[in-house]
Amino acid sequence: MKIELSNNKVFFEKEGLKKEIHPFWLRERVNEESFVDRATQQRLFDPTELKKNIEIKKLNLSENFLEICFNDGVKTKLAIQSILKEFSNINDIKFIEKIKWDSSLKNLNYFDFKENIFEEKIMYDALINFYKYGFIIFKNVPVQNNFIVNFANSIGSVRRTNFGEFFNVKSKPNPNDLAYTSLALAPHTDNPYRNPVPCIQLLHCIENKVSGGLSTLVDGYTVTEKLKKNFSDYYKILTEIKVRYQFIDKNIILEDWAEMIQLDENKKFKQVRFSPRLDFVPLMEKEKLELYYSARNKISELYNSDDYRIEFKLTPGDLLMMDNYRLLHGRTSYDANEGERFLQGCYIDYDSTEGKLKHLQRKFNL
Ligand SMILES: [Fe+2]
Repeated sequence: MKIELSNNKVFFEKEGLKKEIHPFWLRERVNEESFVDRATQQRLFDPTELKKNIEIKKLNLSENFLEICFNDGVKTKLAIQSILKEFSNINDIKFIEKIKWDSSLKNLNYFDFKENIFEEKIMYDALINFYKYGFIIFKNVPVQNNFIVNFANSIGSVRRTNFGEFFNVKSKPNPNDLAYTSLALAPHTDNPYRNPVPCIQLLHCIENKVSGGLSTLVDGYTVTEKLKKNFSDYYKILTEIKVRYQFIDKNIILEDWAEMIQLDENKKFKQVRFSPRLDFVPLMEKEKLELYYSARNKISELYNSDDYRIEFKLTPGDLLMMDNYRLLHGRTSYDANEGERFLQGCYIDYDSTEGKLKHLQRKFNL
């Protein structure tokens, strides 16, 4: 990548392709003190009020800087590095490569919690692993009631829902409510009926005295790629048909339409939704529905297969942080009469983890 000049024009060259940089693009980036607030990096001028026919009057390129005089009398000195950064994928979270995993995964991405971890380099490493694997587990997190909310707010902000700021997953001997049952929970993603769906779930183990009740995780990305490779017609229909997800309570009806496998604008993996008690496929021709049901059965079979699921026990002080757009989670059954099992959970969104990651990147010059 490099910058070149010719006839008062600035060119950017990348992988053999040379393109002119629009003079207005450079004018918008004028960074002298009277144009940009130093602390916030916010503009002190409104570019929509500038005249449109901005041209370059004079140019000079040195090793580290590009000096420009514009036809509206403004002069600036831009760092070449900062221009090149805008054309590179380095430091862009979208380009952290996902590592596919299945039941053979041994590394459970454990990180030791300590008091100031949120401002330390170890938190940067943890968040990078989160984006690679879709989950991380912090050990030795204080087992205080509601500590989960402090934890979440130290990364970003809790995403509050109609269930509140956090939720209790609690079992008691002789349970008196269905929420406190000890039944197995098949792999699922949370809250597919919300718009937007909560991005990340945090689950903090306060107490776990039962022998079963193992936590389970499945990499939806691995399963999706498997489906794409071996069952392309199933993959196609699950990425195309929007189904209705709904949640009905006495005070609220939550409903959203989305594909079971959602792709981004480049047709790459973006998000999976899977909660077979809450999804309603639209009425389509019988043949299409036939294909859809076969596809849903296949993906369900893969999600529930031993080949993809990891199982592990959360012990008091463990805090699991998982990507609700990529992973499915569940638990095995247990005997509630063995003792107490108490987890607390909450959600945060990607702006929290991305914001923290970029802050730590800047802080440690990474
Ligand atoms: Fe869940």
